[in-house]
Amino acid sequence: MAKPKTQFVCQNCGTVHNRWAGKCDGCGEWNTIVEEDPMGGIGSGPGKVPKKGRAVALTTLSGETEHAPRVHTGISELDRATGGGFVRGSAVLIGGDPGIGKSTLLMQAAAALARQGHRIIYVSGEEAVAQVRLRAQRLGAADTDVLLAAETNVEDILATIADGKRPDLVIIDSIQTLWSDTADAAPGTVTQVRTGVQAMIRFAKQTGAAMVLVGHVTKEGQIAGPRVVEHMVDAVLYFEGDRGHHYRILRTVKNRFGPTDEIGVFEMSDKGLREVTNPSELFLGERNSKSPGAAVFAGMEGTRPVLVEVQALVAPTSLGTPRRAVVGWDSSRLSMILAVLEAHCGVRLGQHDVYLNVAGGYRISEPAADLAVASALVSSLAGVALPADYVYFGEISLSGAVRPVSQTAQRLKEAEKLGFAGAMLPATSAELPKGGNARWTKIEDLPDLVSRIAGSVKKLGKGSDDD
Ligand code: TYD
Ligand code: MG
Repeated sequence: MAKPKTQFVCQNCGTVHNRWAGKCDGCGEWNTIVEEDPMGGIGSGPGKVPKKGRAVALTTLSGETEHAPRVHTGISELDRATGGGFVRGSAVLIGGDPGIGKSTLLMQAAAALARQGHRIIYVSGEEAVAQVRLRAQRLGAADTDVLLAAETNVEDILATIADGKRPDLVIIDSIQTLWSDTADAAPGTVTQVRTGVQAMIRFAKQTGAAMVLVGHVTKEGQIAGPRVVEHMVDAVLYFEGDRGHHYRILRTVKNRFGPTDEIGVFEMSDKGLREVTNPSELFLGERNSKSPGAAVFAGMEGTRPVLVEVQALVAPTSLGTPRRAVVGWDSSRLSMILAVLEAHCGVRLGQHDVYLNVAGGYRISEPAADLAVASALVSSLAGVALPADYVYFGEISLSGAVRPVSQTAQRLKEAEKLGFAGAMLPATSAELPKGGNARWTKIEDLPDLVSRIAGSVKKLGKGSDDD
């Protein structure tokens, strides 16, 4: 019998190679290919007689369920993002760019929980005990009973956290520093990260402790030791923010125990992260409503309305190919709006540079922002400031029609709460609230919007052409 050849398997995507290579052809990741024994796995051919399986009892979907027991931190923005607190026996991954504030957030959470009498263990693999203590002092958390260890070896960590009373919450900062004796690879590699995380998840499931894993996002926007970790854990949260701005957003990407479209908003201060309970006020904070090109978008983040200003600058270009620059929105979506404006409204922007910015460094992902973007663009081109007390929302289709969006009532309620007197919204919007002093301007299609803002559509089209 021929000697079975060993095979080389990418630890990131599972592609099998005949030879070792630095880069995987399947997923393009580097250093993820590991030699494996084909006799060890499923379908490895003759050689080993498979063990006879044990039958497990089948059950039905209906039956007794237990409510996921949660540990509430009392930091409401964090509890909101996790869906009501950390679930016992589950593992949560908190990802984010280095320096964004993950350790700060978790130290604050740890301190809040320790004050409630929970047993919290914070394992730092990146910083020495003295550094963590310094941060705790800065956060006013130094007097709490958070148990601290600076350790990176998986077996040592497991022995430490299994020792004594069961912890309510274990924080591992970060998974990239974990290394295990059992995995034959350097720390930070996929194999090591995966082995470490697996061991931590197993501990959480066996003991019922909540496990929080911190993971750094690499330049490509994935957590190093990549996607392998995301599908293993019960919840994935990303901590995002712009270095130029003080606020941070905790966004839920995956949650087996709660909604995935929630966000928590924080502001970084010199004493740590402060909760922002009304994000709209933050994003509208430094508004100059008298200049053309600014429209307030009434957006939604999960169940929460967020008002944010969309700014556009349309200026004659001096280049052969005009510039299109977008911050905080999808650039292909902008191209689409520009095309619809040109095709259906005669607004020609071929000789203009277009800059679009979402204020405060915020990122909009909703198509509902189309109407606000179109309004800002037309306003800037026409040099007419939009009414300062109006909000805009609605999706624009390729035919130029303005389509209704969900949660109209919540958007309008938030706008009214913040003192906006009216809204431009899709004509077919359902559930318009009755009463109140607010004015709703229903927009049928894009030409309708353009004529309302710029007066005559024709004038605008020609004007841009003559320049
Ligand atoms: P940190 O939590 O260490 O980031 P991460 O763990 O995600 O790498 O936060 C680091 C940044 O936050 C650092 O640049 C300093 C800043 N910071 C404050 O502005 N105020 C504070 O109270 C703390 C603790 C940190
Ligand atoms: Mg850190």
